Amino acid sequence: MKVIDVRSDTVTKPTREMRLAMVDCPVGDDVYQDDPTVNELEEEAARILGKEAALFMVSGTQSNQTAVMTWAGRGEEIILGEEAHIACHEVGAVAVLAGANMRTLHFENGMPDCAMIEDAIREEDIHCPVTALICLENALANGRVVPVAVMKEIYEMAKRHGIPVHMDGARCFNAAVALGVDVKEITRYTDSVSCCLSKGLCAPVGSVLAGSREFIERARKNRKLLGGGMRQAGVLAAPALIAIKEMPKRLHVDHENARCLAEGLKEIPGICCDSSAVEINMVFFRINADEAVWKGLSGYLKERGILVNPGQKGEFRMVTNAGVNREDIDTILREVKAYMEQ
Ligand SMILES: Cc1ncc(COP(=O)(O)O)c(C=O)c1O
Repeated sequence: MKVIDVRSDTVTKPTREMRLAMVDCPVGDDVYQDDPTVNELEEEAARILGKEAALFMVSGTQSNQTAVMTWAGRGEEIILGEEAHIACHEVGAVAVLAGANMRTLHFENGMPDCAMIEDAIREEDIHCPVTALICLENALANGRVVPVAVMKEIYEMAKRHGIPVHMDGARCFNAAVALGVDVKEITRYTDSVSCCLSKGLCAPVGSVLAGSREFIERARKNRKLLGGGMRQAGVLAAPALIAIKEMPKRLHVDHENARCLAEGLKEIPGICCDSSAVEINMVFFRINADEAVWKGLSGYLKERGILVNPGQKGEFRMVTNAGVNREDIDTILREVKAYMEQ
């Protein structure tokens, strides 16, 4: 039985081409910056993301936290949405590593609001922390995409205040596909950007952090401090290189599958799904029924070869990815319908 895994796009496996590239790539000691494959990945990532330089990271979390550490010092403040991955899902690392204060703002549907951010910037006052960084996310963890005009407005406001902007672009290529723009149209309104290669792009491991040459050199030292100085990392950079060059071209398929899934789910009695909110590869839906009903869904699907994270208070998320095709979407819809009918 084929297992259909829609828990996340992090479950994607490296392609055959990626596995073969791992075998043949030249390697060296990357702490000496001697690994030709890592160097090539970093140059290519910088070019694609429209920045001067880039740095290969083990994970999106390492990449974001290295960026925060590099921009913000102990006791300084960073402004970000209260639902941001950096605030909620990185184990409180901002407090532990940078030692910075998080000023989290409540944005409607997670959509950053320029006026609210500007209002949260601290004035020069002996009592106040210094605002050192604004963190954005695109695509948002709720599957929505921040329009380019909003990115531009916030970036220009930040420049007026002399504050850098970091973007958690774990899914920035999904955002670019959804907005119908080159990814550089988004990243140009950031001073640093972190982009995950191991999600929809299918690399086995890794993210890249991109920014100015000067920023990346400081980030390199912080990555070393975090134990992230890798040696013959070319074997990981080789599939990552394929991921960043080739795999954005296929993300529209995941988005189409997600829309198809949402359209089907909203027709199932007892399920509430706003298909118009599906912009990338994430589908959110709610089961309006007793706790016993929604709590049983993931176990029922698992027995039928469909992996879904357990719902939280009746809310579910399914994420389409390279391992899921249109036939699988039909299978998911058929099984969810059967569950709801029983
Ligand atoms: C928006 C966002 N940022 C950052 C990350 C962190 O990536 P990693 O799991 O590679 O640490 C994730 C992971 O799911 C994410 O969804």
